[in-house]
Amino acid sequence: MTATPLLLPRTMPVLEDAGVRLRPFTHADAPAVRAATQDPLIPLITTVPATDDDGEVAAYVERQLGRLDEGVGYSFAIADAATDTCVGEIGLWMRADGRCGTGYWVVPARRREGWASRALTLLTSWALDHDDVDVIELLAEPGNAASRATAARAGYQEVALLRRHEPVGEELRDMVLHRAGRGVATDPWTAEVAEADAALDQRLSDELDAHNAAATPGLAPARELTVRLTDDAGLLLAGTSGWTWGVAGGIALTWVAPQARGTGAGSRLLDLFETEARARGVQHVFTTSFTFQAPGFYQRNGYEEIGRWQGLPVAGEADVHLVKALS
Ligand SMILES: CC(C)(COP(=O)(O)OP(=O)(O)OC[C@H]1O[C@@H](n2cnc3c(N)ncnc32)[C@H](O)[C@@H]1OP(=O)(O)O)[C@@H](O)C(=O)NCCC(=O)NCCS
Repeated sequence: MTATPLLLPRTMPVLEDAGVRLRPFTHADAPAVRAATQDPLIPLITTVPATDDDGEVAAYVERQLGRLDEGVGYSFAIADAATDTCVGEIGLWMRADGRCGTGYWVVPARRREGWASRALTLLTSWALDHDDVDVIELLAEPGNAASRATAARAGYQEVALLRRHEPVGEELRDMVLHRAGRGVATDPWTAEVAEADAALDQRLSDELDAHNAAATPGLAPARELTVRLTDDAGLLLAGTSGWTWGVAGGIALTWVAPQARGTGAGSRLLDLFETEARARGVQHVFTTSFTFQAPGFYQRNGYEEIGRWQGLPVAGEADVHLVKALS
């Protein structure tokens, strides 16, 4: 396989190798689409309809024919080259920065005959022959043995397990990220991308504490600093949580219950946080607050803005960075 300076074509090509033809769909492929509508998974992960209604099936074919003009990518019918009969679909979806995605299905009656793996091998080889394609990515559920074996057969590497990554029907499901392309090699690690991971957080914190201690001999380790305000019944009215380390202090989280707002509870939190921080030798307290949170509250309590990231977390808002010098 050699890279050519050609860009991907603006019209659908016909690719053929090892008895497989990848070609544009036609309405004569309706029987294959109708068969795919009966599969339990395909309508959940593609735009194949869950009904074999003639109009819906024809609309699916029309959508595939429009994919390239829409800039979405290439949707090929996988055909038996001997008869030109459609047995499935494979797509090459354009993303940014030289990355493409792929996905495929084969009609139930023609599975385990090598159609998906030969189609994926052919598509991958064709796409990577173009200089504007560096990497092709494929997502498959961990339990989708057929798709994972197909990817492996076509030379794809398993890169990471992505927890709760992709909607399938109503739920976010785990996916194995596969890649083929330039610079993709077998990794000497197993990777997992997830949401909250308390055990990982603890381990990272311990490792960083050890690193920091070694880098700052003579400086006591960072300490957490929390302030809690409760009512007579012990219910939380307000709290703040942060840290102190050397001459620096940081406020990470501050919250005041709605019924305690406007009572001075927030200012008391900061006052107590700063008093304890000062006693620990802190000279500067840092915090950040989104524009829809409380930068004004911090400013009223002596914090000065030192900068802001515009457009976070959404356009029209900003992340405001503030500092207060403790006298
Ligand atoms: C995944 C799918 C496209 C595979 O199509 P296929 O034409 O049967 O695949 P192939 O015949 O090329 O087989 C490819 C590899 O998968 C293996 N395989 C196929 N079906 C399998 C199964 N049910 N369980 C385990 N391995 C299976 C084959 O043995 C082969 O591996 P090998 O070359 O190492 O022997 C097909 O099962 C399908 O359409 N599934 C529903 C849609 C889907 O899951 N799409 C992929 C979404 S990520």
